[in-house]
Amino acid sequence: MTQKDSGWWTDFFDPFRPAFDLISRKVTNAHVNYFIKKLNLKPGSKFLDCPCGIGRISIPLAKKGIKVSGADITKPYLEELAVKSKKAKLKIELKHCDMRRINYDSKFDAGGNLWTSFGYFEKESDNLLVIKKMYKALKPGGKFLLHVINRDWIMVNYNPRGWQRINDMKIVEERSFDYSKSINTGIWYFIEDGNERACETKIRMYSFHELNAMFKKVGFINIEGYGSIKDEPIDRHKMMMFVFGTKPKR
Ligand SMILES: C[S@@+](CC[C@H](N)C(=O)[O-])C[C@H]1O[C@@H](n2cnc3c(N)ncnc32)[C@H](O)[C@@H]1O
Repeated sequence: MTQKDSGWWTDFFDPFRPAFDLISRKVTNAHVNYFIKKLNLKPGSKFLDCPCGIGRISIPLAKKGIKVSGADITKPYLEELAVKSKKAKLKIELKHCDMRRINYDSKFDAGGNLWTSFGYFEKESDNLLVIKKMYKALKPGGKFLLHVINRDWIMVNYNPRGWQRINDMKIVEERSFDYSKSINTGIWYFIEDGNERACETKIRMYSFHELNAMFKKVGFINIEGYGSIKDEPIDRHKMMMFVFGTKPKR
């Protein structure tokens, strides 16, 4: 990791780790089944999970015989994933890497940037680069999925303060929105045993029409977006978006 690759994410994802437990196994399993169906994954298919985090999606996919590669910038997450995959006797190839620096060429049948891992960079060209790198990593005919929060939902439901409890930890987030750049700044307070740690996030929020344009610019075809795993249309009432694109066959 170079100096250029550090940013708010360098400090944030250590205290954030317990938040993965907020997503139930039921939701994750439903997402995994949806991804397999929509991305046409079969045993032996090659899938790139970037960023892969602690393997929330990589591990269940690998258990279904899919050949998973994962890349992420948070080393302890990769270490946790490696321990879990070894225990489950799974082979998952892992890379410690910034998502802008992955360098695969025509290797994967499908790839995913999942659960709000997009829009992390202040420069618009860097966010576009993440999609470009995924495009390059796919075989001709390969499919990419971006699973991300919907800016239009945020506009309807914007709450400048939110909080949640995970086991003994309380997480408070104070939010502000820059309408000129569509960037949400969150100050997150992780409070446990009387100790408080504050971290900042700055995430560019996207509407579907913007992602659609970015996918097109990079070269994807058959771009589709859904607001749920029931393939419902995206509108301002849908919190998450599932955006798919296909790399054209040569
Ligand atoms: C919200 S988590 C999602 C993880 C995983 N996709 C999932 O669905 O569980 C975001 C992930 O992005 C990773 N990340 C943050 N900044 C990154 C960067 N610049 N390059 C690569 N990974 C990054 C974090 O380490 C974390 O694992």
